[in-house]
Amino acid sequence: MNPASPSPWPACVLLTGAGGKVARAVRPYLAARCQTLRLTDIAVNDDDPAADEMHLADLADPARVRELLQGVDAVVHFAGYPREADWPALLHANVQAVACLWGAAVDAGVQRIVYASSNHAVGYYPRSQRIDADAPARPDSRYGVTKVFMEALASLHADKHGLRALGIRIGSCGPRPVDARALAHWVHPEDLAQLIGIGLTAHLHHQVVYGVSANRRSWYDNRAAEQLGYQPVHSADGFEPALLHAVSPDPVAEHFQGGSFAAAGHRSPVPNRITPGCPQNAARGPAA
Ligand SMILES: NC(=O)c1ccc[n+]([C@@H]2O[C@H](COP(=O)([O-])OP(=O)(O)OC[C@H]3O[C@@H](n4cnc5c(N)ncnc54)[C@H](O)[C@@H]3O)[C@@H](O)[C@H]2O)c1
Repeated sequence: MNPASPSPWPACVLLTGAGGKVARAVRPYLAARCQTLRLTDIAVNDDDPAADEMHLADLADPARVRELLQGVDAVVHFAGYPREADWPALLHANVQAVACLWGAAVDAGVQRIVYASSNHAVGYYPRSQRIDADAPARPDSRYGVTKVFMEALASLHADKHGLRALGIRIGSCGPRPVDARALAHWVHPEDLAQLIGIGLTAHLHHQVVYGVSANRRSWYDNRAAEQLGYQPVHSADGFEPALLHAVSPDPVAEHFQGGSFAAAGHRSPVPNRITPGCPQNAARGPAA
């Protein structure tokens, strides 16, 4: 057998944070491929058509997580606190719940976890620098630190227990980019779903990739994803005329990839060439 050939889709996949913004956007793509897609969230949104199917659980509760994982082959982990906050909120949703899920997954014999990391794990890189999947973490916020924790935990469990994992440093997921920054790091839900499918089937140990569409202005060298078969079909390029001037008035935000997350509370000296709209924001050629 060719060791690089993808495995079949796992029969039973648990989607966490299933009522959240990103999970709801990718759900139709996953439902079309999974034999069983089990949905879980801590609460149900009234307007969710799948509200009746939702298994309610706090992922920081070990007993509930053990129940949820019965018969599960793979997890797509999108639950979490998705923005900057004080430590207690972040520690519960992005550290305690994550540690609980990974530990229970090993015990339950889960084979793979695909998880939502974030561009904010590396948000303190300047926009002038193109980074790849091996770039050391450079979080821009407490939130970003929790995503680095998740990547480290996934690496530990892959090495120690053989629990395969794909971490997706998601840029900004939605039907269309919303500002100039997103022209670099936007991802369409269909492309994100393609990456999730790769995480569920590709021959991998633990790998981090960037969750971005084929954007000409991307800050990322996403060859690690391409080598696993990623071929994004969407691009932010067509939105440039409408969004190129939708920049932040804060030059610190414009300097760093993490934007306002990096700028919030920023007191370190910054290079004096940071001006909104300066050449560091200029388009680069398409990614190799
Ligand atoms: N929205 C983006 O573009 C983006 C960008 C980068 C990374 N991400 C990451 O993707 C994931 C989803 O983001 P989103 O924008 O859909 O956020 P969201 O807040 O809409 O969804 C997260 C879901 O997780 C659930 N949740 C929170 N704590 C929980 C817990 N303890 N137990 C069980 N469920 C819990 C929430 O109820 C919510 O439905 C997050 O991990 C976020 O950090 C999102």
